[in-house]
Amino acid sequence: MRGSENHGGPAPLPGGSAQGGLHVAIIMDGNGRWARARGLPRVAGHRAGAQAVRRTIEAAPKLGIRTLTLYAFSSDNWQRPAQEVSTLMQLFHEYLERETPECVKHGIRLSVIGRRDRLAPELRRAIQRAEEATAGGRNLHLRIAVDYSARDAIVRAAHRVNGRRIGRAGFARLLGEAIHAGEPVPDVDLLIRTGGEQRLSDFLLWECAYAELYFTPRMWPDFEGKDLEEAVREFHRRERRFGRVLEAAG
Ligand code: IPE
Ligand code: IPE
Ligand code: MG
Repeated sequence: MRGSENHGGPAPLPGGSAQGGLHVAIIMDGNGRWARARGLPRVAGHRAGAQAVRRTIEAAPKLGIRTLTLYAFSSDNWQRPAQEVSTLMQLFHEYLERETPECVKHGIRLSVIGRRDRLAPELRRAIQRAEEATAGGRNLHLRIAVDYSARDAIVRAAHRVNGRRIGRAGFARLLGEAIHAGEPVPDVDLLIRTGGEQRLSDFLLWECAYAELYFTPRMWPDFEGKDLEEAVREFHRRERRFGRVLEAAG
């Protein structure tokens, strides 16, 4: 039996998301421990983490990744020491200014997902400039999650339902609006978490319904293109069933 229209139709077939190309999401964890192991302040780990972002983006298109969603700052991360929070925001702002021209050059569309109302006005403007400048990028859709909480996003989307009868596709659209994505949220194919922890920390809870999960002990600043390649290779070894029974070929 197939899912009804009301539930947004059946899950996509194994082998990638409907748009073609993989959606990979990464919880970039372990910056603080990386720095501590070297006798450095935590913020040095965040700086080194920005280099790992660059390497990851370079490697992604060659591996068949069409959408890459990076968890940069969770809504719960506001509870960290004020100095660490302000450094993270400053690094993110610098990243946008520095990398926007690079994204344009390499056909990368950059979007930021999450709440905007608690960000500094100049950062909000930088986000808007980066999104507008890179809107034509077709090689990779890079989504950076900042002040992001999946549960808060689901609650905001639920408010927008407003008693209407909507299915999964309709809810995915509302969820996209709730995180300023401007389009329905895409299912995640592969979720990677670095840093050794095996938890979701409130990231993409709806979108990861059938994601393959991949945990690596490597700390984020040490993450390289070959680590991404290994994760994607492992993804292709998995059998995605989406609740069905797959008949053996032949
Ligand atoms: C991830 O690294 C970056 C952010 C959460 C902003 P952490 O800062 O969480 O590093 P650890 O987990 O303390 O090592
Ligand atoms: C998740 O990492 C958030 C980001 C990587 C941005 P955390 O380090 O904040 O998560 P917990 O506290 O270990 O769950
Ligand atoms: Mg952490």
